[in-house]
Amino acid sequence: MKYVKILVAILGVALIAVQFLRPAKNRAQPAPGSGIESAFPVPGHVMQIFRRSCFDCHSDSTVYPWYAEIQPLGWWLSSHIEDGKRHLDFDRFASYRPVRQYGKFKDIVEQLQQDEMPLGSYLFIHRYARLATDEKEEVIHWSGAMIDSMRTRFTIDSLAGKRPDALPGR
Ligand code: HEC
Repeated sequence: MKYVKILVAILGVALIAVQFLRPAKNRAQPAPGSGIESAFPVPGHVMQIFRRSCFDCHSDSTVYPWYAEIQPLGWWLSSHIEDGKRHLDFDRFASYRPVRQYGKFKDIVEQLQQDEMPLGSYLFIHRYARLATDEKEEVIHWSGAMIDSMRTRFTIDSLAGKRPDALPGR
């Protein structure tokens, strides 16, 4: 019994201690000209969908829920955001190389068609982030148009380069 009490006390102290280890917030001022809308014509409504449903994990400006202040929940959110941004960052999209932009448009179509995004664990709490069928179709259609327009602007060879994701620092 004595040991149980000691163990509970140690766990309690540890839980309090980790509250002071806060991950940095994802709130940078995006560099001007590097957002997706600087390189591609994004209709207002499509941008609205991205902002509402994707920006928390795929941009420089996350809107944090209150429980982000509680560790280890904050760490968990932070790792999703870091991972999401590494894969796709709408605030840096214009600075990607064309081959990467092209690949990301294809990934967006794929992820939406397979209902992979937004992440299920996120939708569970952020119900408003769910895409209605017509919104999904709108984004897929628009991404398809961007893929087509890139095919007319760039040679297929330059768009079919090795996926730069595999290279460090990209
Ligand atoms: C809760 C965070 C979160 C939200 C919200 C979210 N994503 Fe993601 N997304 C991730 C993470 C984490 C990954 C990388 C790991 C994976 O694929 O599961 C990812 C990966 C992706 C990829 C794959 C990129 C690649 O390199 O393969 C695409 C495309 C994508 N997301 C699009 C979207 C779109 C479009 C939305 C909005 C409709 C969205 N995501 C909303 C977290 C999120």
